[in-house]
Amino acid sequence: MRVLIADDEPVSRKLLQSYLQKWGYEVTAAQNGAEAWRLFQESSFSIVITDWMMPEVDGLELIRRIRAANHSGYVHATLLTAKAQKEDLVEGMEAGADDFLTKPFDRDELRVRLRAAERIVKLEQSLAEQNRVLRETQSALVQNEKLASLGRLAAGVAHEINNPIAYVTNNLAVIRRDTQSALAALDAHRRGDMTEAARLEQAADIEYLRENFSRTCDKTLEGLQRVRDIVRNLRDFARLDEAEFKEANLNAALESTLEIVGHQIREKSIQLEKHFGELPLVLCHPGKINQVFLNLLVNAIQACDRGGVVIARTRAEPGSGVVVEVQDNGCGIRPEHRERLFEPFFTTKPVGQGTGLGLSVSFGIVRDHGGSIEVDSEVGRGSTFRVVLPLKAIGKQSSSHQ
Ligand SMILES: Nc1ncnc2c1ncn2[C@@H]1O[C@H](COP(=O)(O)OP(=O)(O)OP(=O)(O)O)[C@@H](O)[C@H]1O
Ligand SMILES: [Mg+2]
Repeated sequence: MRVLIADDEPVSRKLLQSYLQKWGYEVTAAQNGAEAWRLFQESSFSIVITDWMMPEVDGLELIRRIRAANHSGYVHATLLTAKAQKEDLVEGMEAGADDFLTKPFDRDELRVRLRAAERIVKLEQSLAEQNRVLRETQSALVQNEKLASLGRLAAGVAHEINNPIAYVTNNLAVIRRDTQSALAALDAHRRGDMTEAARLEQAADIEYLRENFSRTCDKTLEGLQRVRDIVRNLRDFARLDEAEFKEANLNAALESTLEIVGHQIREKSIQLEKHFGELPLVLCHPGKINQVFLNLLVNAIQACDRGGVVIARTRAEPGSGVVVEVQDNGCGIRPEHRERLFEPFFTTKPVGQGTGLGLSVSFGIVRDHGGSIEVDSEVGRGSTFRVVLPLKAIGKQSSSHQ
C-alpha cells in the first residue's frame, strides 16, 4: 500500500516516515503541500497523511484537490495537525479528510488508524472490482439478449421472406416455360410452317398467356417488393449497434417492430389493433427502443391464446414526453410475480422458451433514456405495459455525444 506523507517539519516528517516504513508501507515524503500535490498527480497513492499548516498549499487545500481529482480508486486522507479543537476537526473532515490525528501523535494510535485506513481502501478496491465484474456480466447479458432478440426475429423473418420467394421462383419458372413456347410458335410462323405454328400456339395456350402474362409479372414484382420492404424494415429495426442518439418518430419505430413480429401475430391469429397518436420526435437510441418494443410485443403475443388481441397505442404527453403502450388480453401476471418481472432471468416460461431477460434489459434501456415502464395486469384478463419516454434522454444524451 503506497502512502504519501506531507509535512514541512523535517523532524516530524522523518519520524513519520521511519514508523511507516517499519510497518511495511511504501512511503513517499513531500516537504510541503505543493510538492505533495505534484507527487500525487505523478503516481498513485492509496493513503495520504498530511500536516495541516504548510505554506502555499496547506493540508486542507491538498485534500480538497485530491477529492476533486478524478482518479481511480479511493484515496484515504488523514490530517495530522497541532490544531486540536473540535471545530478544527469539523473543518478538516468537511474539506474531505477521513481521519484526524493531533500532534504530537501517539505511535500506536497512528498504527491502528492506518490499519483502519487500509481496511477502507481494500474494501473500496474489492467493491470496485465487484462493480467491474457486475458491469461486464451486465453487458454480456445485454449482448445475449440482443442476440436472442435477433434470433427470435430471424425465424419470423425467414418465414416472411420465404413466402414471396417461393412464389416469385414459381412465377419465374412459369414465365420462362410460357415464353419459350411462345417463341417456338413465333419461330414456326417466321419459317412459314403454319401447321406447326398452329400446333405450337395451341400447346402454349397463347390466349391464356396473353391474359395472364402481365398479371404474373406484376405478382412477381410485388413479391420482390415485399422482400425489399422486409429487408428495409429489418435494417431499420436492427440498428441495434448504432451508438448515437437520434431524433426518432416512435410511431415509425413501433410500426417497423410490428412488421417484424407480423409473422408471429398471424401464426397465432392474433388481432392487432393500432391506435397511434400524433407524436413529437423523441431524442433516443432508436435501435434500443425498438428492442424494448420487440420484447413487449413478443411477451404480449406469447401471453395471448390463439385469436387473442394485442393493442399498440401511442400518445404524446404534453410537457413530459411520449407514452407507448402494449396491451394484451392474455393470461395476465400473478400478483406474486409482479415484483419480480424486471429481475434478470425471472421467467415463468418453459426452458428454451424464455430466458427472462427481455424485461430486465428493456427496463435498463428505458431507464438510460430517463423514462419508466409501468405495468397494469389482471390474471385471466391481460396486461398493459406502458413505456414513458421523455422527449430528450437527459441521462445519456450528453455522454453519447462525448
Ligand atoms: N404481457 C405479459 N403477460 C403476462 N406475463 C408477462 C407479460 N410480459 C411479461 N410477463 C411475465 O414476465 C416474465 C418475464 O418476462 P421477460 O420478457 O423478462 O422474460 P421472458 O419473456 O420469460 O423471456 P425472454 O423475454 O428472455 O425470452 C415472463 O416470463 C412472464 O411471466
Ligand atoms: Mg420476454
